Amino acid sequence: MTKVEEILEKGNFEKETITALLLAGEEDSGALFRKAREIKKEFVGNRVYFRGLIEYSNYCAKNCFYCGIRSGNSRYARYEMTGDEVLEAARYAWQNRFASIVLQSGERDDEGFIAKIEQLIGSIQDMARNELHITLSLGEQKPETYRRWFKAGAHRYLLRIEDANAELYRKLHPNDRHHAYQSRIDALMALRATGYQVGTGVMIGLPFQTVSDLADDLIFFRDLDVDMVGMGPYIEHQDTPLYEHRNQLLSLRERLQLSLKMVAVLRIMMKDINIAATTALQTIDPMGREKALQAGANVIMPNLTPVKYRQDYLLYENKPCLDEEADQCKSCLETRIQMAGDTIAYGEWGDSKHFEKRK
Ligand code: 5AD
Ligand code: SF4
Ligand code: FES
Repeated sequence: MTKVEEILEKGNFEKETITALLLAGEEDSGALFRKAREIKKEFVGNRVYFRGLIEYSNYCAKNCFYCGIRSGNSRYARYEMTGDEVLEAARYAWQNRFASIVLQSGERDDEGFIAKIEQLIGSIQDMARNELHITLSLGEQKPETYRRWFKAGAHRYLLRIEDANAELYRKLHPNDRHHAYQSRIDALMALRATGYQVGTGVMIGLPFQTVSDLADDLIFFRDLDVDMVGMGPYIEHQDTPLYEHRNQLLSLRERLQLSLKMVAVLRIMMKDINIAATTALQTIDPMGREKALQAGANVIMPNLTPVKYRQDYLLYENKPCLDEEADQCKSCLETRIQMAGDTIAYGEWGDSKHFEKRK
C-alpha cells in the first residue's frame, strides 16, 4: 500500500497527513482523486449546481497586491452595471433555471453602494418571484451592512480569506487598516452570525506560500466549519506589485495540479460542503474546471456579465470567456459537464448540505 492509500484508508486528517497528500506525485494523486470522486458521489451526488456570475462593478477601494482591478491600477476603465443590466442578467439565470446567482464586485463601503446593492437584491427577488438564491461576493463590510443585505433577500456570502496564514496575508496586502487580517476574520464571523451560508477560499501557488500553508488553509476551512469553498490557482498579473516575484512561482501546470489536490483533500475532509470548480483553473487548462469536478468539486459559476465589461474585470491575466455570451458558455458547459460524468442540477438552489444540517 502506498503512503497516500494508507492515509486515505485511515482517514485521519491532521497537518502532517494533509501535507503528505498535497505533496503526492502524479501517480499517487490518482488514488486521491478516485477517493474524492467516491465521496462526492456518496455525499452530494454527481450533480453540478450553476451560479450565474454577475461582475457588477470593478470600482475597488482596496489595493491587494495580487489583483488586476486594485485601485492603484489605472489601466482598466472603471464601470458599474446599470440596474437594468443586472436585472437582465438575473432574468437570464432565472429563465434558464440556474436557480442561483452571484453578485460580485470590487470592494466599496460607501452608503451609496450599500443602498444600491440593497435595492438591487430586492428588485431581483421581485422580478424572479423569490425563486433565485442570491450569493454576494462584495468583500468586507460592517455587520449592519451584512444584516441589511440579508434582510433584503441575499442568502449566501463568499469572502475568501485569500491565505489563512496571517503573516503571509500581510505580505499580500498593503499594511494599513483597510487590509487587516483580523478584520477579515471578524467579517467571516459576522456573516455567520447574520445567518448567511458562508463561503471562503484561498489562492493556490502564491509567492511565499508553502505546502504547509496550504495544509493550514484546509484546516482553517474545517475549523471555521464553512458551508462553501471557492479556491483556485494564483495567476500573476503584470500590473500588480506581486508580479516582480513571478520567478519564484511554481509552473502553471504545478499550480493546477496542486489546486486539484486541494479540492480533492477538502472533499474528503468536508464531505457535504459545496466546492466550486473555479474559473482560474480554466485559465491554465481548457479542461481545468472539468478536472476539478472529477476531483470533488460540485459548483460552477457561468459568467453572465455583459461582454462589453468583461475585459475590464481582469483580476488575473488570460481570463477565459471574454467574448462568449451567456448562451455560448451555457451550451459549452453543458457538453463539458456531461463529459466529466456529471449532471447539471437545473432548477435547484443547491444549498450546501452542510448548512442544511447545521440549521
Ligand atoms: N489570481 C487568482 N485569483 C485572484 N483573485 C484576485 N486576484 C487574483 C489573481 N491574480 C481572486 C481573489 C479574490 C477573488 C474575487 O479573486 O481570491 O477573492
Ligand atoms: Fe479589490 Fe477584491 Fe481585487 Fe482586493 S481582490 S483589489 S478587494 S477586487
Ligand atoms: Fe465560456 Fe466554455 S465556459 S465558452
